[in-house]
Amino acid sequence: MIEKKTKLLLGSVAADIAEAGRILREGGTVILPTETVYGLGANACDAAAVSAIFAAKGRPQDNPLIVHLTDVGQLPPLVCGELPPQLYALASRFWPGPLTVILPKSDAVPPETAGGLATVALRLPSHPVARAVLAAAGVPVAAPSANRSGSPSPTTVAHCVDDMWGRVDAIVDGGDCTVGVESTVLTLCTDPPRLLRPGAVTLEQLRAVLGAVEVDPGVMERLADTVQVSSPGMKYKHYAPRAQVSLVCGSSAAYAAYMNQGAGRGAWALCFDEELPLLQGQALSYGAVHDHAAQATALFGQLRELDRLGATRAVIHAPDTDGVGLAVYNRLVRAAGFSIINLE
Ligand code: TXA
Ligand code: MG
Repeated sequence: MIEKKTKLLLGSVAADIAEAGRILREGGTVILPTETVYGLGANACDAAAVSAIFAAKGRPQDNPLIVHLTDVGQLPPLVCGELPPQLYALASRFWPGPLTVILPKSDAVPPETAGGLATVALRLPSHPVARAVLAAAGVPVAAPSANRSGSPSPTTVAHCVDDMWGRVDAIVDGGDCTVGVESTVLTLCTDPPRLLRPGAVTLEQLRAVLGAVEVDPGVMERLADTVQVSSPGMKYKHYAPRAQVSLVCGSSAAYAAYMNQGAGRGAWALCFDEELPLLQGQALSYGAVHDHAAQATALFGQLRELDRLGATRAVIHAPDTDGVGLAVYNRLVRAAGFSIINLE
């Protein structure tokens, strides 16, 4: 059992930032805000510190971590070989920000951080508190989302306290996360580069910079147990509230009919704002129908809200998959365990 005396630190207080940096440098665990979701950080080059992340989350050891940095100049010692030209093109367009890039790793990255893979995931977050904590730490910081393994990622400090109080050394409060879904994950270890997890940096934006970008089949579909996954995170159940979740594709009218008269009757609806007046039963919304950025920001908080309300069954209306909608859809199919109902 993990029993730590967790400190609550404030991202707006310089002494608290210095304290968070000191804890990380000395091998401790610190939850820090980023623009995407809160991360559970530890020194990425210290195998013992990284092991404490896996213990706190209950995370499978083969699921690798993202290493967080403040400056592109910190990449070369962590990467095997030269940085590819594509990395510089991506960095100048999207960093700091919600993009993670995978490259071959150097020996400075311990196998614990890389989940035993020969590659390393790297990201420069833009959140000012994340950058301040990283600068104070002065070491690369490995940080998965700060949820207990399998739960929705935390987008507020309250979510972090619920999941991790007593399991980490400190939590830094930096307010609510604005993006709301985790970073886009792209590997540069394949030709063409391949999207492993969609996020706020969209497929369309990546193609505008790089030309061809493939989408890994695991982004949209459940992979057969026999398939070798490109990203270990793909094979684990994710983002799921306690309710039994199904995802429904179709028009607002078809969704409302399904909820009011069809098989969705009696379940909680998680729908778009415009649909609330159409629904007769219990319902929450997660943003306007065409506002994928707002849906991303609200999604994980609303999945947790379903738990708080004691929902046992939830039927979620799926967004279109253009732009950031692809990231929202990708999290929802996993929350639903790939149970998709097509009404068209
Ligand atoms: O926005 C984010 O990326 C947040 C914040 C805290 O930065 N972090 C985050 O980390 O979402 P995590 O561990 O929850 O998700 C990392 C994903 C996992 O699906 C993992 O399997 C994949 O990235 N990943 C990490 N390293 C990889 C590698 N070397 N090859 C393939 N996939 C990798
Ligand atoms: Mg995660």
